[in-house]
Amino acid sequence: MDEKLIIVMVGLPARGKSYTSNNLCRYLNWCGVNCKVFNSGDYRRKIMGGFQDASFFDFDNDSNYRIKEQISKICFEELLKWIDKDGVVAIFDSTNSNVERRIYLKNKSKPRNIIFLELITDDEVIIKKNLNLKLISPDYIDKDPKYALEDFNKRHEFYSRQYATIEDSEDVKYIKIKNFTEKLVIRRVFGINESLIISYLMNLRLNSYPIYLSRHGESINNVNKVIGGDCLLSENGNNYAIKIHDFITTEIKEDFIIFTSCLKRTKKTAELFTQKKIETRLLNEIHGGICENMTYYEIEEKYPEIMQDRKADKLRYRYPEGESYLDLIERLKYFVLQLRSYKKPILIVAHNAIIKVLLGYFQEIPHEKIPHIDVNLHEVIKLTPNSKNYLKETIKL
Ligand code: F6P
Repeated sequence: MDEKLIIVMVGLPARGKSYTSNNLCRYLNWCGVNCKVFNSGDYRRKIMGGFQDASFFDFDNDSNYRIKEQISKICFEELLKWIDKDGVVAIFDSTNSNVERRIYLKNKSKPRNIIFLELITDDEVIIKKNLNLKLISPDYIDKDPKYALEDFNKRHEFYSRQYATIEDSEDVKYIKIKNFTEKLVIRRVFGINESLIISYLMNLRLNSYPIYLSRHGESINNVNKVIGGDCLLSENGNNYAIKIHDFITTEIKEDFIIFTSCLKRTKKTAELFTQKKIETRLLNEIHGGICENMTYYEIEEKYPEIMQDRKADKLRYRYPEGESYLDLIERLKYFVLQLRSYKKPILIVAHNAIIKVLLGYFQEIPHEKIPHIDVNLHEVIKLTPNSKNYLKETIKL
């Protein structure tokens, strides 16, 4: 029970609450911490049968106010049921912008662990980007953009009139973030999951650029069906290095960053790029331990039990003196934090198992399925962020 945690978002509309909630939730689940977002807007749309215009959010309209509070309470009660059963971190994605609401939530959640996460934004560029995300969110996606903007501005005005930032006198644990990375204030927050959450939030920025993932070009070991090692590319692989360079430099118009592992085959694949390159061991291929530089056939012959055990549980199975997929998730936790902190397009040239684990993060694929994802050689995977997740396209070169 101690590890369980409720995070209550606080902030005006279009401050990035849903963006932060959804991204944090994706990261925690991938790190193995069972997390779920409860969005009161989703409950409102479900209970009220669709969209409500700005007048619904007029705090001076008593009957609307009561309905709105009632819906939030229903949503929060569902959250409590979930966290008491099998949840570990539950995020309440709602404005929770006045003291009265926060007192209710604090009392209702006792004796559970609750932290308020307030997003404060006065940077016009960030507000504009959040607004763009708002206009493609469920309330406005099917509306005329001019109407959507006017309606949203009215809604925003109603919330602004009664918004109160969290004060120490409220006697709650809180994290306040100003303009994403400008200022971070933490009060009475500590613990293992809390540290993970704070590290993620410290690095989270609004990035609407795509991320490109690719395995290295075909290597000599790929041709010989040998796993691991540190060999060079085959002729096919060298051709792919030309193709990926041409494709990416035509595709990305602005400055971008390239990540490779420290192994020759990824560095060779990215060799033609003149953009900034970062080599990191975090992206090295899964270590096959005593099976490195062997074919699967040789492993089967020499260590049949390794093949059997790995097949039985590919996620957890650790090669003797090597790694498992769970080890890779652990290793890539810090890489993903690093990725979050860039505001540029990114190309990652890595390896089979590494790309599977990264796809697991971006596509919210359950752990058990990650080792079984198919990632082909000579394909670029383009991941474009939208308001909630990443759109995946695969380009064969
Ligand atoms: O075969 C290429 C390769 O990158 C090996 O170096 C690595 O051991 C393997 O893929 C990972 O894939 P799997 O986990 O499916 O064996």
